[in-house]
Amino acid sequence: MVEEAASHTPSLTELQSKATVNNLNFYYGSNKVLKEVNMVVAKNTVTALIGPSGCGKTTLLRCFNRMHDLYPGNRYEGEILLDSTSTNILSRKVDPIELRMRIGMVFQRPNPFPKSIYDNVAYGLRVRGISKRSIIDEKVEEALRAAALWNEVKDRLKDMAFNLSGGQQQRLCIARALATNPEMILFDEPTSALDPNATVSIEELIGQLKKRVTILIVTHSMQQAARISELTAFMYLGELVEFGLTTDIFNSPKEKRTKDYVYGHIG
Ligand SMILES: Nc1ncnc2c1ncn2[C@@H]1O[C@H](COP(=O)(O)OP(=O)(O)OP(=O)(O)O)[C@@H](O)[C@H]1O
Ligand SMILES: [Mg+2]
Repeated sequence: MVEEAASHTPSLTELQSKATVNNLNFYYGSNKVLKEVNMVVAKNTVTALIGPSGCGKTTLLRCFNRMHDLYPGNRYEGEILLDSTSTNILSRKVDPIELRMRIGMVFQRPNPFPKSIYDNVAYGLRVRGISKRSIIDEKVEEALRAAALWNEVKDRLKDMAFNLSGGQQQRLCIARALATNPEMILFDEPTSALDPNATVSIEELIGQLKKRVTILIVTHSMQQAARISELTAFMYLGELVEFGLTTDIFNSPKEKRTKDYVYGHIG
C-alpha cells in the first residue's frame, strides 16, 4: 500500500476537465500501438501514466503535442479535445509548432539547447515573435522563478546551460516550457536520470506548477505516482486498462492486470 496517495485525494466532482481523449488509436507505420484509448485529463491536477515497459506511455504522451508528426508514417485516429477551445489537437488544422508552446514537454534526460541559460528560456518567446528586451527579461525571470531556479542562476544568465547540474538543467527545461505560458506540460519520466535530492525538488516543483498548468506525467515509480498525482492511468499493451483516482488505483484496483502490476511493483 502507498499511504501518501490519501493526502492527494480530491473529490471527483471538484475536477474540471482540461482535455478529453476519445477513441484514440496510434500507429507507427502499420504497427498499432495505442488501442481505443479514452480518458479525461483533469485541469490543474497531476495525472500519472503507469504501466510496463513498451505499453505505450510515451506514445500516448507524445500524441498530446503532436510530437509524432516529426516522423513520416505515423498516424493518429480519434481525437484529443482541448476543452477550453473544443479544438481537436490531432486535426490537421492545428499548427503543431504553436500547439507545442501551449502544451510543453519535458523529457527523461534534460535536453537544454546549446545556448545560454537566458537564451534557453527566451527561445519560445522569440519564436512567438516577441523581441522587446524588457518583456523577454521579465518573462525569463518569471519562468525561472516558477521553475525554482532563479536564485541559483540570476547572476550567471549568460553561462552555457550545459554548465548547470543535471537537476538544474531539468528545472531549466521546465522554465523553458513555462515561458510561453502553456496550458499543459507533459513530463516523460523527468526524474529517472536524477539523484534523490534533485528528484525531490522536481516533485515539489510539479506540486507547485499544477496550480497554473495541467500536468501529465509518465513514471515508472509507483511511489512517485502516489506522491504527486491525483489521477492515474494504468496502461498495458497499448490499452488503457484502468483509470481513476490515484488512491483507488493503488489501494483498490478493479482490474486483475492493474493489481498484478501495482502490487508486483510495490511489494
Ligand atoms: N518509433 C517507433 N517506431 C515503431 N515502433 C515504436 C516506435 N517507438 C515505440 N515503438 C513501439 O511502440 C510500443 C510502445 O512504446 P512506448 O515507447 O510508447 O512505450 P513506453 O510505455 O513508453 O515504454 P518505456 O516504459 O520502456 O519507456 C512499443 O512496442 C515500442 O516498441
Ligand atoms: Mg517511455
